[in-house]
Amino acid sequence: MAAASSSVFVFVITLIFMQRLSECATCSDCFTRSRAAHYPNSEEQGTDHGACGYGSFGATINGGDVATASDLYRNGVGCGACYQVRCIDSELCSEEGKMVVITDQGSGAGTDFIMSRRAYAGLAQTADAAASLFALGVIDIEYKRVDCSYPNKNITVKIDENSDAPHYLAFVIRFQQGKNDITAVQLCETKNFVCKLLDRSYGTVWTTASPPRGPLSLRMLLTNEDGDEQWIVPINNIPRDWKAGDIYDTGVQVN
Ligand SMILES: *[C@@H]1O[C@H](CO)[C@@H](O)[C@H](O)[C@H]1NC(C)=O
Repeated sequence: MAAASSSVFVFVITLIFMQRLSECATCSDCFTRSRAAHYPNSEEQGTDHGACGYGSFGATINGGDVATASDLYRNGVGCGACYQVRCIDSELCSEEGKMVVITDQGSGAGTDFIMSRRAYAGLAQTADAAASLFALGVIDIEYKRVDCSYPNKNITVKIDENSDAPHYLAFVIRFQQGKNDITAVQLCETKNFVCKLLDRSYGTVWTTASPPRGPLSLRMLLTNEDGDEQWIVPINNIPRDWKAGDIYDTGVQVN
């Protein structure tokens, strides 16, 4: 009897211990300590020429709450990812901080993020506190990756101005949602299902010389933080007569 109850006791302790371990391993609520700076004076919102290739869209996405990433840029895979950033000083900083979207690459003095002035100001509790944060220039922060959310927006494809139909196709994927990375993109002919893997030219710009002909079915490979992969096939095709500058609605949201 005594032996049985002590083995139950060990079992319970083991369960508690394993639960602790798995909480640490997934750690979806863990913040990472780092530093952040802000854009120069002229740039209140984002930039038109960020390394992600979003163009003018990159200046206004997420209301202009955007950031330049250094290591988190991850050769362009990090473009479009969303992070909750909050600063540390309890006198100046709000508890929630700000959610920013990565639109560019760059680094400063030990920073993971260079934030648009708008987003940086949003870290503060008050306008006076924001002025103090700007005076510091570089501040201690903590961050974690969060879901991107664009209510009432489907993922869209913007055909890059450098495209030359039908010989060369380049496009940018907008309104990437959730916490997944887009790690590969394919275009498939809708008739005979010949597919072609695209190249990540830079940032979120996907390209192919000699794209398949006819209406094109887009496939995006989403990878989550555990490395699980899933191909997403939007309901809308890119039409056969796609043109540089056009924007196509994929008809899907991914959360
Ligand atoms: C998103 O796609 C769905 C399905 O095609 C469509 O009904 C809806 O209007 C689209 N939403 C927006 C905001 O474009």
